Amino acid sequence: MEHRCRSVAHPSLAVVKYWGKRDGGINLPAVPSVAVTLAELQSTCDVVLDTGSSRPDRIVVNDEDQEPVHFEPLLDAVRAAAGVSGRFAVHGHNSFPTAAGLASSSSGMAALAAAALGAAFDASLSADRAVSPPVDRAVISRIARLGSGSAARAVYGGFTRWDAGAETARRIHDEAWWPEFRVVVVPVVRGKKPISSRTAMERTRRTSPYYDAWIADAPLLADVAENAIGNRDLRRLGETARLSYLRMFATMFSADPPVQYWLPASVEAQIRLAALRNGGVAAWETMDAGPQIKVLTSQEAVPAVIDALQDLSDGNVLVCSPGPGVSVECPGHAP
Ligand code: PMV
Repeated sequence: MEHRCRSVAHPSLAVVKYWGKRDGGINLPAVPSVAVTLAELQSTCDVVLDTGSSRPDRIVVNDEDQEPVHFEPLLDAVRAAAGVSGRFAVHGHNSFPTAAGLASSSSGMAALAAAALGAAFDASLSADRAVSPPVDRAVISRIARLGSGSAARAVYGGFTRWDAGAETARRIHDEAWWPEFRVVVVPVVRGKKPISSRTAMERTRRTSPYYDAWIADAPLLADVAENAIGNRDLRRLGETARLSYLRMFATMFSADPPVQYWLPASVEAQIRLAALRNGGVAAWETMDAGPQIKVLTSQEAVPAVIDALQDLSDGNVLVCSPGPGVSVECPGHAP
């Protein structure tokens, strides 16, 4: 029998970065991270669970078949949580570039965990119910994490925190908390990144002499960022976010062989933003495992930021506000 669900999730952009894993579980973070979920970018995921089939799972993202190996820990955990067997057929779609350093894995894996859990719990219970069983967000977060660490945060809307060693992330403020807060996303290049965050993270852990210093320093930055969000203090948040991404990259530059994601346009954006700040504009960049620039700013400063960076963008500049957590609908049941 087939059980279907569709979910929508939005990427989780870290202001204080998750970089480095702890031993003892899949994607357990070595450091706390603090993030915001971005409303204007989205991943949708359609899942069909066929309980009568034992063929391998099939995962297609933006019409491209994916290596099932990256998805199996997540899908196996879903089957185990619901006590069902069967084969998943997954069709995911991202409204923005995939695997390009725009956190598509966070929203993609959050959407997958939510839809797969919806379908699996649907299968595990009797068929004659009007409402599909609600799945607890903490369960979705724990299982999404098995696909991609940052997905644990994308399950929740608004501002989130994921503590070192924690199985799940948690929400610290909802998406209505800071209405003027904006993230301007400047994709400086299209196309996939040369090395996955998974590989880069592991390499820096094994080879960077600065890794231990990064681990020691990160908790303080997470606390400062959480406080700044609580006080809606953009300057404090922006300065802290800048320290976090630059310290993260210091571990990558010092790995062996070094991990280098930056492009000339990334550095040019950093320099132009420093000049903007000197001119009194409140705008601080952050970067992830890729060359793209994301600017933490306020609604009123968005035009100045776009004006300064637009020509560096290889595609549309996207203006994002804090967005909702993952949602899921299973047809045949009331939403
Ligand atoms: O979730 P992953 O395994 O793709 O790692 C994400 C790592 C960063 O994007 C660089 C930082 C973060 O906290 O999202």
